[in-house]
Amino acid sequence: MKLKAAFIVFLLIAVHLAADPLIVAHRGASDYAPENTIPAFKLAWEHGADAIEGDFYLTKDGKIVCIHDENTKRVSGINKNVKTSTSEELRNLDVGAWFDEKFKGTTIPTLSEVISIVPKGKKIYIEIKSGAEILPELFEELQRSKLEPDQIVVISFDEEVIRELKKLDSKVMAYWLVYFQKDKSTGDMKPSLSQVLETLKTIHANGVSSGYNLVDENIIREIENENFEYHVWTVDHLETARKFKRWGAKSITTNLPYHMKKYMDKPMPPQDLDPDEPAYLPCSLMCERNRLIDAKVRRGPHYSDRMKLFMGSDYEKDGIVFIGDTLIEQFPISEFFNRKNVINCGVKEDRIQGITERLDVCIKAAMPNKVYLMAGMNDLLKDNPESIEKLGNHYEKLIRDLNNAAPEAEITVFSVLPMGETYADKNPLVHKLNHIIKLIVKDQGLEYFDLHPYFADENNRLFSHLTTQGFDLNPDGYLVWLKAILAEQEFREAVINYSKSWLSKYGGSFPVAKIDPPSSGTYPGNRGPNELVIYTPSYEMPSTNTNKWGTEAVLKNGVVEKQTLHNSPIPTDGFVVSGHGKAADWIEQYLKPGTLVDYDQNIITTRDIPESEMTPEQRLIFLKKSLFRKFNSIKKSGADETTKHNAFVILEKIQRIQVEEKSIRKNDLDEISRELKERKKKIGNSAPVKN
Ligand code: G3P
Ligand code: CA
Repeated sequence: MKLKAAFIVFLLIAVHLAADPLIVAHRGASDYAPENTIPAFKLAWEHGADAIEGDFYLTKDGKIVCIHDENTKRVSGINKNVKTSTSEELRNLDVGAWFDEKFKGTTIPTLSEVISIVPKGKKIYIEIKSGAEILPELFEELQRSKLEPDQIVVISFDEEVIRELKKLDSKVMAYWLVYFQKDKSTGDMKPSLSQVLETLKTIHANGVSSGYNLVDENIIREIENENFEYHVWTVDHLETARKFKRWGAKSITTNLPYHMKKYMDKPMPPQDLDPDEPAYLPCSLMCERNRLIDAKVRRGPHYSDRMKLFMGSDYEKDGIVFIGDTLIEQFPISEFFNRKNVINCGVKEDRIQGITERLDVCIKAAMPNKVYLMAGMNDLLKDNPESIEKLGNHYEKLIRDLNNAAPEAEITVFSVLPMGETYADKNPLVHKLNHIIKLIVKDQGLEYFDLHPYFADENNRLFSHLTTQGFDLNPDGYLVWLKAILAEQEFREAVINYSKSWLSKYGGSFPVAKIDPPSSGTYPGNRGPNELVIYTPSYEMPSTNTNKWGTEAVLKNGVVEKQTLHNSPIPTDGFVVSGHGKAADWIEQYLKPGTLVDYDQNIITTRDIPESEMTPEQRLIFLKKSLFRKFNSIKKSGADETTKHNAFVILEKIQRIQVEEKSIRKNDLDEISRELKERKKKIGNSAPVKN
């Protein structure tokens, strides 16, 4: 009996030990050397990778070469289609210099060259980017090579490739590649888990390898329960990698195999670069690159992208810096202030220590004479937050370092905001942390600014009308914040500057990039990814067939008739609103059939139902939108001081209604409506209805 128990314990330990995922170098060690080249693959082996991953195509002359894109433009500067070029033509291209001069002369390797440097006991993940026609040549190459069968893994997004491969040799390990996305209309995962399992069965794959987004432990368990393996790509953030390790991913594909191997089970050194870090690149390049890599693995790709932006910024000294976390990054600073030297140094989801680590690139480099700091919320929202005492210690260091970085500047430190209903259990911690922050800030002789009187309701929670998720601020929230810190005149200027963005962020409106036909000339083309174009009946084409990817709303007499994905016919008694990216999202969400729509050269605005049929809450938002259209008119064509003043009186009334009234009274809304109508002529009309 005892022996049996010991055996079970042994099995449990063995299962646990076997859980270590393989670290697969994505396109080689591709953050240190040009992707999919021999130097990148060699470096991956030096960095301790368990496997390399590379992308492979069949060329015109039947050879297999290693490159990611279907053409050579990005990595060589010369545009050649890989499938229709010969291996000789491709061989002549330099695919190293784009990454760094040091790699000049590097060429596109063949599959056999890549295979020839795979050490014994290590694996190669061969991603097939061509169709199944590559398979006969692939099998020949593999047979010619010295690789053992267990060193070879084939992956592909193309189900047919996996199905045909398995028909030719069922023993080759093969994973189907999937990228999970959320369906915009239903919110469901695409492809669904049952679709994935069904496909895996029909193509006889050994498992699935997916991008890391939307995947959770349950999904992995369900995949394993059906006897399929789960693998993940492309993870460069240590915390994400650790999570997938815990969840049992069989391999983690990464651009940073060195860091994943070395720091998967131990923390990275906090700030300075690891002295053991091998100097793979000359210092001038390495110092900056390593700093960004270090930021990426420890704090995630977004932090590293923001750092890159700050490092490349050319600041004007003596300005104002707002530094902090999500609330600062989302602060529409450039839309409020018409000045280049008001700088947004916020990073979404950043914590106290992350902010401390970037004081050099945000504060020292900018040499501001005024700094606003907001930090601490994400430290509290974290799953297992550190103790308040520890957070206090981190905060103390942040304040000391900030004071040292900008000894001449006036520094204002904001309290952490209260949280809304969903996160209300965190509010006692917010209160404690704020108490500590206040003591530290005062002790350093700086200004502490308590935002609670402006943002907390009678239950000490964030006002619901100022937030979307309970810890963020909506455009109204930022107005309240700005009003708290600016003098009256500055505040008024900022609101007028901000009016157009307020309207576009409030969902009911979106900036118009182009109207077709344009006032003169022909269709200008070159649509940006987030632009919105309005096609009118006089447009020379009967349909919007220049738009291949966007979402469109067809309107008749100013009312949305239907939504389509693309190529809508333009009605003679209406027009089509068409957009890509964010604009397409906006159309999908707001231009539902039946919606009333206004537009002018600058802005398209929705009006869901007549004012008389709105609920008091809808009416309040509607009146506010009308008011902001007036601010926008003031911005465009100016207005006298009395008119401006009166508009701000209305804004104040609206804000007071939101703060003070539990039930919005009809009389108040009628009064605001009346005032807005009265002042309409003076301030300027809102967008005219065109149809
Ligand atoms: O490992 C799979 C991954 O490489 C797929 O994405 O675009 O980098 O080839 P991609
Ligand atoms: Ca790949």
